[in-house]
Amino acid sequence: MMDVIEKLREIVKKEMEGTDPSHDFLHVTRVYNLCLEIAKYEKNVDLEVLKISALLHDIARLKEYTDKTGKIDHAFESAKVAERILKKMKYPKEKIEKIKHCIVSHRFRGNNTPKTIEAKILYDADKLDVIGATGIARTFVSVGVHKQKIWNDVNIKEYIKKNFVDGKRNGRIIDLSKHSPNIEFETKFKYVLKKLYTKKAKEIGKGRIEFMKKFFKRLKKEISGKL
Ligand SMILES: [Fe+2]
Ligand SMILES: [Fe+2]
Repeated sequence: MMDVIEKLREIVKKEMEGTDPSHDFLHVTRVYNLCLEIAKYEKNVDLEVLKISALLHDIARLKEYTDKTGKIDHAFESAKVAERILKKMKYPKEKIEKIKHCIVSHRFRGNNTPKTIEAKILYDADKLDVIGATGIARTFVSVGVHKQKIWNDVNIKEYIKKNFVDGKRNGRIIDLSKHSPNIEFETKFKYVLKKLYTKKAKEIGKGRIEFMKKFFKRLKKEISGKL
């Protein structure tokens, strides 16, 4: 088993070169580690399926990132790529199906919800990576990539109407340059906890959200010169 994991790790590392720092191989590594931690508290987890799914879950991320049509879903693309790689390695068919389900259902906005325990763990681990200190770091990567402000004082309701597709909080952001970390916190991260499946992830998530709240509160005060 270790051999398969190590081989895949090398493939993924190479395939993900050139992705931005929020979605690079380090993200995959963090998600992988979180998966193992969450799995300790769940029963009947197929660790091999989980590990492989974690490693491959964002392998086609670059394809979505460079796509201008907005139609490419990296979860579907990654599942396809995963299937191709695993088939080539002569990996058991029934396990490939399980892995594909985990990968397809990991996406935040996707309609495919995770059904198996491995898929739920991967989903949770991937969501935890957008919150906490890591989440904050990732939002500031976006500041650099999309030339955003580090703080943007907006009326959140108005902002959602104007800068999200269909005026919905869950829609895609229309103009990324108008977005900012504090807005991302108000419109997305605050709602992450409700979406988690496993007990351990909820516990970790709670701590991470608390930390973010403190951070943004302080940032606002510093910006206004109060601290
Ligand atoms: Fe993803
Ligand atoms: Fe991911």
